Amino acid sequence: KPRVLSGCQPSGQLTIGNYMGALKQWVAMQQTHDCVYMIVDLHAITVRQDPKALNDACLDGLALYMACGVDPEKSTIFMQSHVPEHAQLAWALNCYTQMGELNRMTQFKDKSQTHSNNINVGLYTYPVLQAADILLYQANEVPIGEDQKQHLELTRDIATRFNNIYGEIFTLPEPHIPRSGARVMSLQDPNKKMSKSDANVNNFVGLLEDPKKVIKKIKRAVTDSDEKARIYFDVNEKPGVSNLLSLLSCTTGKEVSSLVPEYEDKMYGHLKGDVADAVVSLIEPIQSEFARLRQDETYLRTVMQQGSIKAQALASDTLSKVYSALGFVSKA
Ligand code: TYM
Repeated sequence: KPRVLSGCQPSGQLTIGNYMGALKQWVAMQQTHDCVYMIVDLHAITVRQDPKALNDACLDGLALYMACGVDPEKSTIFMQSHVPEHAQLAWALNCYTQMGELNRMTQFKDKSQTHSNNINVGLYTYPVLQAADILLYQANEVPIGEDQKQHLELTRDIATRFNNIYGEIFTLPEPHIPRSGARVMSLQDPNKKMSKSDANVNNFVGLLEDPKKVIKKIKRAVTDSDEKARIYFDVNEKPGVSNLLSLLSCTTGKEVSSLVPEYEDKMYGHLKGDVADAVVSLIEPIQSEFARLRQDETYLRTVMQQGSIKAQALASDTLSKVYSALGFVSKA
């Protein structure tokens, strides 16, 4: 089976954007792929985190992956920091990545603006750690949202460069970006993506949020003011309405093209009401499953320990190949 690798940062609670762009695909791919999913705690500390909140967010993430349908019987689930090979390979790959390449990363440029008081070296080399995550497992496919595409291209560039020097060490990974839901936009500012770390909580819908609040947030979402409040899909002219249509499409499984005629003569309020209903029916079962799993910390620990054993077996194999290719003397 082809191998899949992906992860989410435990920095705040996961949103419906993370679900549409990533988790929904993770769950589906379990049927056809050998899947490895992690909670990327090492990446999370590139911005300042409260230790207690980070600890909770990691366990929440684990329970939430499972509540969304990631099955530990089928997939390997673990904490990135439990497999030290991630940091080790990242170091080696740092030496095969040019500063010019990292200077071009848009996520780094964005975060340097939003976190201008802490532009640390980890934030800068973040994409190299992500490349290590992917290449360690010889992943064939990486299910991600649109915003991670540039990091995947960098991963491919680093892998190609390394392979050209040392032979076929790394598998070249392909991005797996969903046709709809790859870029869920902010509710109050539909020109930027929905983000779990947004300072304005009205911009995102968390998977664990109280359904009553979720309904309010969606009903207050910014729609587009033009002469006639018509409902049609056009991300440039109607970013707010188009975002709502996309959300409805991913939650109901109906194509945007078949939804548009249904709303032609309706008002924004109708659309918002239907989106709110669809989102609530998506998150309610996830929330009850989450509540059940989250209180069983013994079980969560068993899952992540078994996951890290399986993950480390794969990761250490790749790291040995890399070390030997580089010319390091083996311990044995
Ligand atoms: P993160 O934690 O920001 O997001 C996790 C996943 O959710 C997707 N996503 C979205 N999809 C659609 N609409 C949105 N508004 C939206 N916001 C987020 C992201 O594209 C991502 O797939 N660098 C990564 C984490 C990472 C990783 C990896 C991913 C570290 N190592 C290895 C894949 C493979 C990140 O910050 O994701």
